[in-house]
Amino acid sequence: MRYAKITERLEGLGSHKWAVHIEGKDREARGEELIFLSIGEPDAAVPEAIMDVADRQMRAGRTRYSNGRGEPQILRALSTMYSQRTGRHVGPSQFLFLPGTQTALYVAFMGIIDIGDEVLLPDPYYATYEGVIAAAGGVAVPVLADPDRGFHLKAADLAKKITPRTRALLLNTPGNPTGTVFTADEIAEIGALCRKHDLWIVSDEVYATLTYGNTIFVSPFDDEELEERTIVVSSVSKSHAMPGFRCGWIAASEEFCDRVLPLSETILFGSQPFLEDAAAFALQNHFPEVDAMKVSYEERAKALISGLNGAKTVSARMPEGGMFVMVDIRKTGLSGDQFARRLLAEEAVVTMPGESFGTGGAGHLRVALTVDEGQITEAAKRIKRLAERI
Ligand SMILES: Cc1ncc(COP(=O)(O)O)c(C=O)c1O
Repeated sequence: MRYAKITERLEGLGSHKWAVHIEGKDREARGEELIFLSIGEPDAAVPEAIMDVADRQMRAGRTRYSNGRGEPQILRALSTMYSQRTGRHVGPSQFLFLPGTQTALYVAFMGIIDIGDEVLLPDPYYATYEGVIAAAGGVAVPVLADPDRGFHLKAADLAKKITPRTRALLLNTPGNPTGTVFTADEIAEIGALCRKHDLWIVSDEVYATLTYGNTIFVSPFDDEELEERTIVVSSVSKSHAMPGFRCGWIAASEEFCDRVLPLSETILFGSQPFLEDAAAFALQNHFPEVDAMKVSYEERAKALISGLNGAKTVSARMPEGGMFVMVDIRKTGLSGDQFARRLLAEEAVVTMPGESFGTGGAGHLRVALTVDEGQITEAAKRIKRLAERI
């Protein structure tokens, strides 16, 4: 049978990235005890009060079809949240409720990219980005972010990669895997470039609530001059430890939302009302569990870094945000992939090789801060021990 080109564009894309994790899972199934630092899945429980709302609303009959844009409650909650954040009125018609940031990314790129259009991508980048760009027929154009500048991208490097086919920039702040949070000046400089070349900015803000120390989260959407060209994608997956709820959204101009609504309706025919109610409740209320989760990520990052203290060939810097630490192993002379494989085989610690996130991640390991401090400290000890043996 003959298949559409999209199946070829996506064929095999990304599966090799998870090879170390998959081997770790196989070993675990054979009875080995391992420390898993490979997947960005929050280990915290969903706040009880949110679970109660989902349960209550489901039992109250909120199980019918939802409208394609999202239920009025969640759209109002998003409108309030973004109006407060931006300091201007962001109306309910500027949102589309979608099942997670991943779907929001898909809808965003299907709405702005034609075959052969180029998308600028700070490198290292999140593992599914190549796939969503390729699905829409776009060409990912990685722009290397220097690890020695804390993976802070230079606008000048971005400018060098702009061609007549460039249509969009995909930003992710706080970044996965880098932990980098773009400053207000960086966003302004990058934004000016996007205005000059009339580019869309797709802003993946799934880690927006997770920033550490004095770091301040800044979004291009909050700048009135960038609002019309910015498409925010986000969710409650990380902010409230609710990835399985698949509750996410697009925030953009009303025109953009109206234009892509038929696209999301074609894929989804609406979402689940009881989950939309739970997400609205999550966004409208404050939860001590959520505060505690953020504190624990910060403490775990500090524990990892202090555990690596004194090592001659491995080091890590405190992430500005997100839930990952990049461990720099370049001085060992191994690639991230080689180091991660040996770390699994010799020390029973499962990490992601930096190369899984693009060339820019080479010579690094991405460590997910999703196990308790004791296990993080133990993992740091084992990373250091392997580095000393090399
Ligand atoms: C940068 C980034 N974007 C998007 C996603 C997907 O998030 P969601 O669960 O909201 O689809 C993830 C998940 O790890 C991520 O790290």
